[in-house]
Amino acid sequence: MLMNENDPMAHFPRAILSHAPTPLESMHNIMRQSGHPHLYVKRDDTTGLAMGGNKARQLEYYFGAVLAEGADTVLITGAVQSNFVRQCAAAARKLGLACEVQLEDRVQGMPAGQMEKGNALLDQILGVPIHRFEVGEDEDGADNNLELIADGIRARGGKPYVIHLGADHPPHGALGYIDSAREIIEQTNAIGIPLAAVVVGSGSAASHAGMLGGLRHYGVDAPVHGICVRRNAELQHARVLKRTLKLAEMLGKPNLITADDVITNDDFIGEGYGKPTPGTMIAIERAAREETLILDPVYSGKAFDGFLSLVDDHTLPRDGAVVYVHTGGTPGLFAYAHLWDVPRAS
Ligand SMILES: Cc1ncc(COP(=O)(O)O)c(C=O)c1O
Repeated sequence: MLMNENDPMAHFPRAILSHAPTPLESMHNIMRQSGHPHLYVKRDDTTGLAMGGNKARQLEYYFGAVLAEGADTVLITGAVQSNFVRQCAAAARKLGLACEVQLEDRVQGMPAGQMEKGNALLDQILGVPIHRFEVGEDEDGADNNLELIADGIRARGGKPYVIHLGADHPPHGALGYIDSAREIIEQTNAIGIPLAAVVVGSGSAASHAGMLGGLRHYGVDAPVHGICVRRNAELQHARVLKRTLKLAEMLGKPNLITADDVITNDDFIGEGYGKPTPGTMIAIERAAREETLILDPVYSGKAFDGFLSLVDDHTLPRDGAVVYVHTGGTPGLFAYAHLWDVPRAS
């Protein structure tokens, strides 16, 4: 076992919320088609907590902090189809805490009725108060508005805890991806194939920073390819670097990574956040038909498009295990059913 009592990871406050370890499965059909001998998928879509996904791991450390501070209400903001918001609402329900969520109109051009679909439908079923933020793409504005809601809760005698979007706040969520990195190392060790590379979607950067920091923390030098889903590669590089350095500081290892360790790739982002490309759709169909993996058009589909491309163009090494992290997002797929309205060639 990689973790012992001297590991700082054993001492961060954590609320157990996820089904972990998640399986590491080999992708036989895609291996056969690509000629790559060692392709694996880390099934972080199976973390549980109201339909799974990467945010369950991240919320374990946020809710650890919430409980440690004695807060009674958790506030979170995200896009209308946010998986983070949906799993945060579920975590609060599970732990008997109040939760208020803010949904941002971040993606223009979606069909009407979004509040009754996918993640937003689950938010309603989970029964948390929903605030709307109609400004669109404005990270600081969304955080500031959440602070105003928090002020209102304080004025009523409550004790709110705000999960911010902005990258200047402590990356509690990234700690959850150190756990995922540790599991991947343990699982590849168990099958006797050295870990050669990891591919993961990169949005808020918590998963990417945690995966990179986690591999280095446990002494593994494999590259982590972050597939951008929200910003261009340059902006995302700065964000991942900032968050991983902060994480390194939290682990007491300030020299854990350098800027060169951070790999961000925006070749698969298309027109931007929440806007799938034809490649995203082909990747979603291929994952379903070859490996029965159900991906989403905002995150895991774009990341899988990147993964398939990096396998095909031989960017990813062939002498060890290459792991695609399935970060979930399943409910979001059902808000994008219109993409399949137009029949396409199979
Ligand atoms: C399903 C899914 N995959 C990937 C991501 C990106 O992960 P991160 O925000 O940790 O960079 C998100 C973020 O919301 C997500 O919901």
